[in-house]
Formats: sequence, C-alpha cells, structure tokens
Amino acid sequence: MYITTTSSPMVELSRQQDGSHDLTAFARDVAEGLRQPRKTLPSRYFYDGTGSRLFQQIMELPEYYLTRSELEVLTQNKYEMAQQFSRQGFFHLIDLGAGDALKTKILLKELSNQQSEFDYVPVDISGDAMRQLSGSLRQELPQLRVEAVVGEYFQALEWLQEHKSERKVVLFLGSNIGNFRPRESINFLSSIRSYLRPGDQLLMGVDLRKNPEVILKAYSDASGVTAAFNLNLLHRINRELGADFNVDQFCHHALYDPQEGVMRSFLVSKTNQEVHIQKAGVTVHFDAWEAIHTENSCKYTIPQVEELGRQCGFKPASVFYDSRKGFADVLFSID
Ligand code: AVJ
Repeated sequence: MYITTTSSPMVELSRQQDGSHDLTAFARDVAEGLRQPRKTLPSRYFYDGTGSRLFQQIMELPEYYLTRSELEVLTQNKYEMAQQFSRQGFFHLIDLGAGDALKTKILLKELSNQQSEFDYVPVDISGDAMRQLSGSLRQELPQLRVEAVVGEYFQALEWLQEHKSERKVVLFLGSNIGNFRPRESINFLSSIRSYLRPGDQLLMGVDLRKNPEVILKAYSDASGVTAAFNLNLLHRINRELGADFNVDQFCHHALYDPQEGVMRSFLVSKTNQEVHIQKAGVTVHFDAWEAIHTENSCKYTIPQVEELGRQCGFKPASVFYDSRKGFADVLFSID
C-alpha cells in the first residue's frame, strides 16, 4: 500500500496486501518458529499498533540510549550530511523502517533549509505509523513531497527496482540492521545495492560495542516497557491468530554476548503448558522455563560495519559519531 501526500489531501493506493496484515504469512511464520526444537518468533511481528506505540515508549526510556545517541549524531552532522546527499541534484530519500521519523525529520528540515531537490519515501510495516507520519509532515513541512510505502523491506526493494534509473539516497537508521543475522544482513544490503547506481548513497545507523551493562539495561529496563513490548507479540498472536497464550505465564529475559556483540531477547514459559493457535492449526507444548527466542540486536565495531558495506558493493565514505562514540551513522557511496 502506498500513501502519497503533497499538500493535497492524502491519497491511498492499495497496491497489494498491507504486509503487516498478511495473516497467512503470519500464521505460517508463527507455526514454523514454534515447531523448532529451539523455539523462535520473527522480531518483525513486534510492530502492530500496540507494538509500535510501545517501541515509541522504549525510545523515551532513560536506559534506551540508542535513539538519543543517533539524534545527537544527526543534529551535529546534519549540515555535512545534507551537503553530501544533494551534491548531484534531485534524489529520492528512502527511509527504511521510518516509524515516526523523529530522527529523519532533522535531516528533512536541514535539506529543506538548503533548498535541496528531493522527495521523501518512508517505508514501514506499520500502516498506523505511516498514516501518522504523512499527516505530521503535511503540518511541519507542507512543501515536501512524500510517498509513504506500507510494507516489509522486500516491498521497499520493489520500490527501488521500479525507480532504478533515478538518483537515490537510502537511509537505514536506528540500528535496524542489527535485527538481521550476519548472512541476512549481507543478502539484504546486497539486494539494496543491486538497485542503486554510481552516485547513490546509503546512510546506515549502527549501535556500537560498549560496556555490556549499559547495553543489557537498554533491553531490560527497570519500568518493564521492553518486557511489555516483547510480551505484546503473544497478545498479538492471541488477537490475530485466535491463540490462547496465557501471557502472565511468560516472562521477558534479555542477555548480551560481548564476544559476538549480540543482544538476545527471549520470552520464557514459567510453567509446563500447552497453547493452541487456532489459525495456525497448531498446539504448542512448553516445558517449564523453556524459551522462545524473539530478537537479536547486533552491536558493531566500525571496521566490521565498513567490511560489511564493502562486501555488499558499498564504499565507506564517512563515519559520524555521537560524543561518546557509542553510536554511529556510516555513509556509504557507490563508485
Ligand atoms: C528497532 C530493532 C533498533 O534492536 O534496539 C528495542 C528494537 N527491541 N528494544 C533494537 C528493540 C527491544 C530495536 N530496533
């Protein structure tokens, strides 16, 4: 689904099923993940309406430093970034996983101030988030041309393919890349690269390695918002797939591996129990203290990120840090 806005009323073009509401795929992925000897559920299903709201609360938590750090990176470097983006005239600014675009708005405003020629293409699996964003941009930047895409990343790739011959700057902020396994991140960045041309750019936000205690607290906050965010996945399965998870009988657990640089999140069954998932046609047994792996959030070193980019055909051009060097936005170019 595309949502196109200029200053005119919002137009919705329903092109394909909204990715976040494709129940068959959801049912299939849930059944598949819970059938494994080590149970797992894909983290992309966190973001229904409630999940997106909970993630917004996470971004305001004192422990969740990532968003504030990246806001600092963008605020400090917006002039330089905007200059780099607009060097060669008109471009599409594609924002993968835009959400509320709190961070991107810093760049959008700077680009507008510099009278840069561009349009804005936010992509997100949350239709709610894209509708809200289109509305708020019409207020804050009425001149900006916005074409919101509601869908998963592969739908963003389709959009890139359809606009292959036009200049593009791709934003992949917020350490969203961290949710991929190493192999998946190579595949994903390589696909993006295949739809880009010389002169195009990629700005990618990555959370960097730091004191493990600081990282751990960001994913197991004192007020329990992250726990609620993780547990919402079970509520969502109950709501959308007619399941009977007794959510009180599960708890959130997060752990950080400082050698691999991976934060892992789990939902742990507190008792021996059975759950029926009607629309997935499965009954799932949980032993007491058996866990479902729900998310990986990778933490990087700069050489690792540069190497990842190079492997996928990108050339590292600049690294922008926050003042603590705990987070970076890395700019890649294409020769
Ligand atoms: C949106 C994927 C960047 O991994 O830090 C926050 C999601 N999960 N707290 C992250 C998340 C738990 C977040 N990303």
